Amino acid sequence: MSDALNTKTIMVDGKQRYYEPAPTDMNVEAFRQVVTSRRSVRKFTDKQIPQEVMDDCLDMAMLAPCSSGLQPWEFYVVRSKDKKEKLVKACLSQLAAKTAAELIVCVARTDRIGDYAQKMLHDWPTPNMPTLVKRYYQLIPYNYAPGPLNSFGMFKKAASRLGGLVTPIPRGPYTSTDLELWATKSTALACENLVLAFRAHGFDTCMMEGFDEHRVSKMLKLPSSALPIMVIGAGERADDGVFFPQIRFDRELFIHEV
Ligand SMILES: Cc1cc2nc3c(=O)[nH]c(=O)nc-3n(C[C@H](O)[C@H](O)[C@H](O)COP(=O)(O)O)c2cc1C
Repeated sequence: MSDALNTKTIMVDGKQRYYEPAPTDMNVEAFRQVVTSRRSVRKFTDKQIPQEVMDDCLDMAMLAPCSSGLQPWEFYVVRSKDKKEKLVKACLSQLAAKTAAELIVCVARTDRIGDYAQKMLHDWPTPNMPTLVKRYYQLIPYNYAPGPLNSFGMFKKAASRLGGLVTPIPRGPYTSTDLELWATKSTALACENLVLAFRAHGFDTCMMEGFDEHRVSKMLKLPSSALPIMVIGAGERADDGVFFPQIRFDRELFIHEV
């Protein structure tokens, strides 16, 4: 094993490979407690969340898996009184928004693929970027570009349909709507990390998609390529902050072994 550039490596089949073994000292019960005690909280106390907890939770959000490692997300912690008032209204004055100590607008971005692919090429953590990986990040901005009125995407879709008749190939994203879905998937995973991180710190959250997206975009001066996907209210759970017991339908409805 070597330790150059703080990167451990191991020889496998005569080749030097990056080495990050799976930790074994995991506490599944601690994880279960976080997952099972998370509830959507609609009423918070007026206790503030310490800044170091906010930072830690946001940092953990950004450790969520993300498509091609491109982190197509942004989190706006809304602090100014004026903006907060506007945001509460945009959240249809839901109690969860009105009482939350912090309101975080979670935004999926479709317009950073080129910039972050470049950044990936620049910031790659090992001395030699594998050629295939390098090519992937060089091409991804072109592969994902829908073009004017989705014209490139439509061409690519037709080509994929033909090519896909003979061999499995990756399909999409083709259109700007596909790109929104692409960015939303990864951003939602980061949102889940965020709410679990708050829970692990003893705080609670309410994910809200009941809000006026247009007003929120305008308030944050977001470009049209940025999609606010949810607002997360966070704070300390009030004694009567959860309104009803958790409901989940029978697992057989959702889990299929095929
Ligand atoms: C994407 C998303 C959007 C949601 N939007 C709202 C919302 O606008 N207002 C609200 O009170 N709850 C909202 N919720 C919370 C759900 O109602 C809640 O997760 C669901 O009823 C299950 O309850 P639990 O989270 O306590 O397990 C949202 C949840 C998700 C995942």
